[in-house]
Amino acid sequence: MSLVIENVTKTFPGQRQGLFGRGDSFTALDDVSLRVAKGASFGLVGESGSGKTTLTRCILRLESLTSGRILFDGADVHALASAEMRRLRSRLQIVFQDPYASLDPRMTIHDIVAEPLVIHRDVVKMTERQRTERVAELLLQVGLGTQHLFRYPHEFSGGQRQRIGIARALAVRPEFLILDEPTSALDVSVQAEVLNLLHRLQVELGLTYFFISHDLGVIRYICDDVAVIYRGKLVEQGPVAEIFDRPQNDYTRMLLNAMPDPDPDRSPFRRPAEAGVGA
Ligand SMILES: Nc1ncnc2c1ncn2[C@@H]1O[C@H](COP(=O)(O)OP(=O)(O)OP(=O)(O)O)[C@@H](O)[C@H]1O
Ligand SMILES: [Mg+2]
Repeated sequence: MSLVIENVTKTFPGQRQGLFGRGDSFTALDDVSLRVAKGASFGLVGESGSGKTTLTRCILRLESLTSGRILFDGADVHALASAEMRRLRSRLQIVFQDPYASLDPRMTIHDIVAEPLVIHRDVVKMTERQRTERVAELLLQVGLGTQHLFRYPHEFSGGQRQRIGIARALAVRPEFLILDEPTSALDVSVQAEVLNLLHRLQVELGLTYFFISHDLGVIRYICDDVAVIYRGKLVEQGPVAEIFDRPQNDYTRMLLNAMPDPDPDRSPFRRPAEAGVGA
């Protein structure tokens, strides 16, 4: 599934102040355009508050657009009827930043991972037993065991929880994943493991990724193309290697300088093939 974002602007109205006044409105996204080809891994990088999550929320139709269009395979997301939107949502899943907040502490791992299968039961027709088998298969796919099926989120580490979040996102066999800072809440060593997993899954399952991060090192590891967002505006986009070698924009240069070690051969995030471990 391809994603096209065309001239998207999102302005939040100002807060009410007193009886008659309103504060200034705030433009969180300013004329943003980008294209994610089917099967690609596209990175969106920018500092905190630059509008990354707002764009995700616009893509998922959790926010209305002030202007512009968002198209999946040519279909305008904000113009879809609700039945079509539901079908789209079964092909498009999201992995959230915070694996502590995004898993319901009262639900077992089984029920958390199975929930999308229940929500989309009109599309994914399964018996309860088939669902449990699918959950077991998913846990193995993300490097967890079936002994974890009936445990609760608090019994897991941050990295394990994010694996559960990934299993949940994969449950309905989506084509497209939005990953909003999926490893930012994790320790660096655990980050590398989860990034490895995400990279492997993308290749194995032929997924399309829209990968959001404030960290260019993470983007370099996982993405082919990248767009740099600064205060709601895209300041630069292109193939990752090109942006790394020849950044055109001052803000991109600043992000590159902020990386702990811009030399990819010494970065903790290396693709297995590059690290000589075999793919
Ligand atoms: N509902 C809202 N009303 C008003 N302003 C909002 C609203 N949602 C977001 N904003 C503002 O839009 C800007 C962009 O926020 P957003 O969450 O998209 O940033 P981000 O790039 O995801 O940051 P982070 O890296 O911290 O997650 C921020 O200044 C935020 O305060
Ligand atoms: Mg965010």
